Amino acid sequence: MSAIINSIGIYIPKKKIENSYFENIVDTSDEWIRQRTGINQRYFADADEYTSDLCVKAVENLVDSGGVNISDVDFIIVASSTPDQMIPSIASQVQTRLNIKKAGCIDISAACAGFVYGIILAKGLIASGEYKKILIIGAETLSKVTDFSDRSSCILFGDGAGAVIIETSSSNYIYKGLTETDGSYGKDLYLSNGSALINSQVVINDNKIHQNGRIVFKWAVSTMVEKIKNLIEINNKNLKQIDWLIPHSANLRILEAACEGLNFPIEKCLDSVREYGNTSAASIPIAWYNGLKTGKIKMNDIIILAGFGGGLTFSSICLQNKILLK
Ligand code: ACO
Repeated sequence: MSAIINSIGIYIPKKKIENSYFENIVDTSDEWIRQRTGINQRYFADADEYTSDLCVKAVENLVDSGGVNISDVDFIIVASSTPDQMIPSIASQVQTRLNIKKAGCIDISAACAGFVYGIILAKGLIASGEYKKILIIGAETLSKVTDFSDRSSCILFGDGAGAVIIETSSSNYIYKGLTETDGSYGKDLYLSNGSALINSQVVINDNKIHQNGRIVFKWAVSTMVEKIKNLIEINNKNLKQIDWLIPHSANLRILEAACEGLNFPIEKCLDSVREYGNTSAASIPIAWYNGLKTGKIKMNDIIILAGFGGGLTFSSICLQNKILLK
């Protein structure tokens, strides 16, 4: 069964946090943050605003932006590292709040790679012929799991959500995907509220994100370069045919280094990190939506989405843009 993505929506919480905010709580500066990460600002959810709230608003925006009917959605996938709670899933909260009566619901855990994993899974469910219309949401409230005493990580994160619908189509616009994981890097990027052991090594068990930034940085760049080349190859394309690369927006320098390694023009790489920080599973749909909104991404453009994050894990897919915002 062929598939198409034809609608998208996002939601960004209202509270804008400038870099100067961190100058008051850790030893850092606006200049350091801009130079080392590209981040100018990010947005935080309110204390009583949770990931499911952001998801519902992103889907409402999707409905408004595309005039799309969601009542016949038959499966909902939410990618997030910051669920409101483990049980019930965020997806089931979205289902009931938006009155989507007959949907299967799951949350998936693949950190910043989660949104693209969601698309790959949804594509497979559509291909099986058993599902026809699937809602995929990447959403985070990372501000709730940020260690605000760690200057190397607290400056990075922001909150947000993005949603797309993938459904059956007479022609196929979602091409091959590719994933890669190296679980031996587990302790280099983690959020533990469980065993406090990763790969038999003791880690901090405080429900906050911890990372070895340099190691993640290097792995992200080398994996993106190698795997995006592979993705292009298995799709029988060449880099010149790719109109837009939308990688996970972790750090602008990672994106610049990956583009350089691929010999791909940085002008054709869309990010959300400068304006919204690292929003993990939400960063790719936010950049995609803004690319459409600003008129950069046109109908039929060929796009590569590439996520990477805790695992360490990587997910990528090539597709043709079929979204026209109202
Ligand atoms: N302000 C000022 N100085 C700082 C700050 C800060 N906010 N943070 C770190 N430094 C210092 C360090 O202490 C170090 O000082 P030293 O030389 O005296 O030891 C110096 O800056 C250089 O530190 P590095 O770690 O080498 O800095 P780097 O340029 O690598 O930037 C960063 C750190 C931003 C964390 C970067 O490594 C990065 O972005 N890594 C990848 C993060 C990522 O992609 N995570 C994955 C997604 S997150 C998720 O899954 C939710």
